[in-house]
Amino acid sequence: MSTKPAILVARAVFPEVLQRLAQHFDVESNQDDVLYTAEELAQRLQGKVGVFTTGSERIGAALLAQCPDLRICANMAVGYNNFDLPAMTAAGIVATNTPDVLTETTADFGFALLMATARRMAESEHFLRAGLWTRWSYDMFAGAEVHGSTLGIIGMGRIGQGIARRGALGFGMKVIYSNRKPLDAATEAACQARFVSKTELLQTADHVVLVLPYSAEAHHTIGAAELAMMKPTATLVNIARGGIVDDAALAAALRNRTIAAAGIDVFEGEPSVHPDLLTVPNVVLTPHIASATIPTRLAMADLAADNLIGFLIHGKALTPLNAPAH
Ligand code: GLV
Repeated sequence: MSTKPAILVARAVFPEVLQRLAQHFDVESNQDDVLYTAEELAQRLQGKVGVFTTGSERIGAALLAQCPDLRICANMAVGYNNFDLPAMTAAGIVATNTPDVLTETTADFGFALLMATARRMAESEHFLRAGLWTRWSYDMFAGAEVHGSTLGIIGMGRIGQGIARRGALGFGMKVIYSNRKPLDAATEAACQARFVSKTELLQTADHVVLVLPYSAEAHHTIGAAELAMMKPTATLVNIARGGIVDDAALAAALRNRTIAAAGIDVFEGEPSVHPDLLTVPNVVLTPHIASATIPTRLAMADLAADNLIGFLIHGKALTPLNAPAH
């Protein structure tokens, strides 16, 4: 019988990361990548002291009550809205995420989605693929200016700051942001960004990018009322989380041209996508891939693994989200 601690890797992951985990643990892994039901997850966690999760596994009080041996959940994501953190802390479970390693890659993608949205890349590509391109015309797929325009960022954490730097330093954009609190003066200066109210941001930005974490208070940060405040020429980019935007209201605003266009990487109830978003032309839709480069995904998986090894073998997680008392 193995004397190593037992862990579960709940989704498919890089084989080299699994091999590294196997040096320390008795690993049950899900390389077939079949999504576990809540019941199956609870059953597979019997006897496990750690679990490697992604955003798709919900960890809450009901599950934890069934898993008395569990001590740590290591999420391979910076977002952790799949974790009920107070319930985990109360149950004495350490929670970890993967900050920093994905910041620049995710900021790249946020900026790419902004550009694709403003310059109507998906819409025009569909047109071309459909064989509809018969001649050049002066206003064909004319989009919104990016350089020199006003970039509004809601949620100015590490990724928001990365997008601000790209906009200000690379594209000469005026950057405004709203956040729970203003950044310190040095960080603001490095991002060339000005703190404004959410209302001012929505009313004045040419491009609004959402990068705030999901929480109950952040649910539908952008709904019909907020979309109505935006300029009719404005674009909206969501790389934060599904549920930050009211997707039905967004589809209606795109159809009615309340705003010009949107770029959306995260969806309410994903992988389902609101059917109305699939039928409006002025939206770029991507399947939650903002951090998806192989080096970055490997760094995320490595950090999640290091959190399991750090805590279970050496007594200290690298990037803990909580500090349970027991
Ligand atoms: C991806 O969405 C993440 O939170 O890392």
